[in-house]
This record gives sequence, structure tokens and C-alpha cells, in this order.
Amino acid sequence: MKNLKRFENLFDLSGHIAVVTGAAQGNGLGIANALYEAGAVVVATDISFKDEQEKKMMDGIVKMTMDVTKEEEVKRVFAEIVKQYGKLDILCNNAGIIYKNLVEKLEIERFETVMDINLIGTVICTKHAVPYMKEAGWGRIVNISSSQAFLASETYSAYSASKAAVSHLTRIWGNELVKDNILVNALCPCYVMTPMMVDSISRKAEELGTDTEGGYKYFADMLPTHRLLEIEEIGNWAVVLCGELGMATTGSNISITCGQVQL
Ligand SMILES: NC(=O)c1ccc[n+]([C@@H]2O[C@H](COP(=O)([O-])OP(=O)(O)OC[C@H]3O[C@@H](n4cnc5c(N)ncnc54)[C@H](O)[C@@H]3O)[C@@H](O)[C@H]2O)c1
Repeated sequence: MKNLKRFENLFDLSGHIAVVTGAAQGNGLGIANALYEAGAVVVATDISFKDEQEKKMMDGIVKMTMDVTKEEEVKRVFAEIVKQYGKLDILCNNAGIIYKNLVEKLEIERFETVMDINLIGTVICTKHAVPYMKEAGWGRIVNISSSQAFLASETYSAYSASKAAVSHLTRIWGNELVKDNILVNALCPCYVMTPMMVDSISRKAEELGTDTEGGYKYFADMLPTHRLLEIEEIGNWAVVLCGELGMATTGSNISITCGQVQL
């Protein structure tokens, strides 16, 4: 017998205050919108917001500029959020960049920037969110890692190393924080249609001497389902992890790859 009422509250995030980093566009935007639709107060943070991006963000989401690599800025923004909304109990560490090159051609400064944003940014934000979560007696941290944390694709050394580290931190923090009712999990998506991916598609199309469709096909054909993910799908998974369903897991890396990677 169907009893859908039983599932009604599984995704209800009313009463929670969520911060999403790198939320002006792409996956962060998808996550911010989804958490907001699930009832959370959502603060979307990013280094900058552009008009075009804001049109896609739901009305009611609060925007604050914040660079995840600047510890004092993160501290100040989090304190401001707690002052305004009373707590901070959901953190989505999403801000990230990509840089690809063969090992002998790596520009160390660019390698370091990837590490700074993808890895150290995640550490800084988590460090300063956890005390507020402990105070609230409840917390959820969703790290946006990548399938590339588990693959060994040529030219991905900076990106994959940063994401492999984020995936392992997820396991460690999952262990460290479970006693405080703070659960830490990572989403590991394959290719998602975001501005970051649009850049990769155009570069690949140029390299192959084809059009955008050809570039899309190149990446899509690497996936068993021959399609790229949409940002809404990443947002939906963030809601699952922050809601009641997510209560059963911590320290997990979840493969959102349509079968590309089994973890
Ligand atoms: N697009 C994909 O295929 C894909 C797949 C797996 C994982 N991811 C991960 O998803 C996350 C978002 O990627 P995306 O594809 O949406 O990229 P994107 O480039 O479209 O968006 C990234 C956002 O992060 C922001 N950002 C960059 N540096 C920042 C900083 N120092 N502080 C705060 N914000 C900063 C940018 O301004 C931008 O709005 C990244 O961590 C990325 O590694 C993306």
C-alpha cells in the first residue's frame, strides 16, 4: 500500500541556516536553490555576484561576498550570519576551480591556487563553522569533491590532488565530529553542466576542431549514460544529505557519476 505521508518530512530543512560557498553560479547555485526550496535560510557566498547569475538565484536567498581562502573574512562573515540568524548549522563547501596541465608544464603558482581554493578554503570554512554547529548541537557539512578524486586522468594532477584530499578530509572529519551530531559527507559528481564545464567543452571543441555539440559529446561519451549532469541534481543530493535521510551516513564519499565511478 502506498503511504507517501511517511516520506513527507524527509527533505524538510525548515529551521536550519545554511551557507554555500562559490554559490553565484554552477553547482553552488544549484545547491543554494535546492536548500532554499527545502525550507532552509540560505546564505549564498562567493567572491563576486554578477547580474546574469543573480537572475537564476531564488528570491529570498541572502547573498554575501566571501573569499574562502581568506580566513579573517570567513570568520567575519560567519559571525555576521550567526548574529543575524542565530546559528549556522549547514555548510556546503563548494567553491572550486580547475587547472589542467601535464606535469612538466605545471605552473606551480596555478597549482597552489587550486590547492588554496579547493582544499585550504574547505579547511578554513569548516574550521570556523564547526564551533557554531557544536553550539547548535546539530550540523551538516557537505563537501563538493569530484569523481576526479578517484580517477587518474592525464593533466588533472592539481585538481585531482585537491579533491582526493577533500574526500579524505571528509572521512576524517566524519569520524571526528559524529559524537557532536555533526555529519560530514562528500558529493563526488562526474561532469555537470556549469560555467566551469562550458569552458572545458569549448576548449575541447577547439582542440578537436568541432563545434560545442561535439565538445559536449566528447565528455558525455565518457559517461555510461552519455549525458552530463544538471546543477539541480547536485542540489537535490545536498538536500538528501542535510535532511533526515542523511542521518544514516557520515564520512562518506557519494558517487554522483551515473556509473562512471564506483566508490
Ligand atoms: N562542473 C563539473 O563538472 C564538476 C564536477 C565535479 C565537481 N565539481 C565541483 O563543483 C564545485 C563548483 O564547480 P562549478 O563547476 O559550479 O564551477 P564554476 O566555475 O561554474 O563555479 C565556481 C564558483 O566558485 C567561485 N569561487 C572561485 N574561487 C572562489 C573563492 N576563492 N572563494 C569563493 N568562491 C570562489 C566562483 O566565483 C564561481 O562562482 C567545484 O568545487 C568543482 O570542483 C564540478
